[in-house]
Amino acid sequence: MADDLAVELEGITKRFPGVVANSDIHLKVRTGEVHAVCGENGAGKSTLMKILYGMLQPDEGTIKVNGEPVRLRNPSDAIKVGVGMVHQHFMLADNLSVLENIVLGAEGLHGIGPKARKKVAELARRTGLNADLDIALEYLGVADRQRVEIVKVLYRGAKIVILDEPTAVLVPQEVDDLFETVRQMRDDGFTFIFISHKLDEVRAIADSITVIRRGTTVGTADPKTTSSRQLAEMMVGSELPSPETRESTVTDKAVLEVAGLRLSEPGSARAVLDNIDLVVHSGEVLGIAGVEGNGQTELVETIMGMRKGTAGTISLSGKDLTKLGTLARREAGIGYIAEDRTRHGLLLTQPLWANRMLGYQTREPVSKGQWLDIAGAKKDTQRIVEQYDVRTPGIDVAAAALSGGNQQKLVVGRELSGDPKLLIASHPTRGVDVGAQALIWEHIRQARAAGLAVLLISADLDELIGLSDRIVVMLRGRLVSEEDPATVTAEDLGCAMTGSAPKEATK
Ligand SMILES: Nc1ncnc2c1ncn2[C@@H]1O[C@H](COP(=O)(O)OP(=O)(O)O)[C@@H](O)[C@H]1O
Ligand SMILES: [Mg+2]
Repeated sequence: MADDLAVELEGITKRFPGVVANSDIHLKVRTGEVHAVCGENGAGKSTLMKILYGMLQPDEGTIKVNGEPVRLRNPSDAIKVGVGMVHQHFMLADNLSVLENIVLGAEGLHGIGPKARKKVAELARRTGLNADLDIALEYLGVADRQRVEIVKVLYRGAKIVILDEPTAVLVPQEVDDLFETVRQMRDDGFTFIFISHKLDEVRAIADSITVIRRGTTVGTADPKTTSSRQLAEMMVGSELPSPETRESTVTDKAVLEVAGLRLSEPGSARAVLDNIDLVVHSGEVLGIAGVEGNGQTELVETIMGMRKGTAGTISLSGKDLTKLGTLARREAGIGYIAEDRTRHGLLLTQPLWANRMLGYQTREPVSKGQWLDIAGAKKDTQRIVEQYDVRTPGIDVAAAALSGGNQQKLVVGRELSGDPKLLIASHPTRGVDVGAQALIWEHIRQARAAGLAVLLISADLDELIGLSDRIVVMLRGRLVSEEDPATVTAEDLGCAMTGSAPKEATK
């Protein structure tokens, strides 16, 4: 393979109001390779690719395709020089046939001749698209729709194909199939630019990798010699905290004490929570492992006062909370990262500073006496944005404008403010990117070291093992065993969670 460059981007900068999406990006893609561009959500990948596809104009920088400087005013200009793009969100018409979707726009509306059909059939074969070309697109599954998009750009003559997060919508088997197609086409001389933030996939498919972070190029990496962890660190820009090396900060001061807690649903014979006893100490993270649906959600909601237990007591640093409502429990010193941040954690249509008030409307710095203190809320939101690295154009934008990871950082910042005694963290990093995850873990660790008690519920076993001082396993509404995170493996935990662990049989 020659070292000809299919694409060369130099010094690309693109500004949007309030955000520099691309800042002096450099990218070199060799002809006939699969080149991965990876970076966290919001790093600027899609923006860069839209520039290469002529959908956006850069503010600065130059583009060369096959060694020639080009000016791409629109996607047709890009297609003319052989660049095609398959978008993160497909752009197909459901009511048109597969063939029409592929050919339309390239041929005009004069009907599709036998030549076009033959060419499409050939490209379909090449890309593994097995669908009948004459059926309506709506009958196709996601993987086939994606292939239709690929055929569509090939039909227009693309030799350089941009795939923007193509695996996000696929199940693992479909990912393997796509990779097989990409490899074969690469061997036939096509060039691919593969966008992803999934490091294992990048390492499986890419011949070389460019990492971008916060809109700028961090460097290139060879997938054969770079580990996923190293790549993650390039993406995040710091050393990821290692789950293994940490010292215990556990004290003997009990913070949360739950005794004999029961919850039964009317009409159901089996208790949802069956005689739960647990204690979380100051400086301790107690992890709860369990297959979802075994009572974890109900346990958290009962501790928070969103559900009323049928029996048992809940206390915080010796104060009985059992009869108190949710707000009073929060005021007593509980921070709460809800399982579903968009349902219980945030008001998406409201500005960030209004979200800062949720659950805190009775306390400083967001209220004074019986009045809300909006200036105080704004100032403290600004603090959270800085301290928790919430990437946002400002505190007046709606929470909906932020990526999931940045929303969650805002929630974590809010729930750790005002020195809570206890943090209940339900799936605190679910669905967030690696950078936000590392940051959230770090803040939880710091708060724990300062004496916070943490009740952690997570389906991510590495997170549970990495953060917890003790792990208890929940099964059918009961706490069935306790595991030591220093020695337990994810496999052991998995067994205990399904009740199939041989070592529990003697209990
Ligand atoms: N049309 C736009 N207007 C304003 N900001 C945008 C626009 N498109 C993207 N951005 C912002 O640019 C940054 C990079 O976004 P994007 O290129 O989509 O990242 P990625 O694809 O890596 O997740 C983000 O902060 C995003 O909010
Ligand atoms: Mg994107």
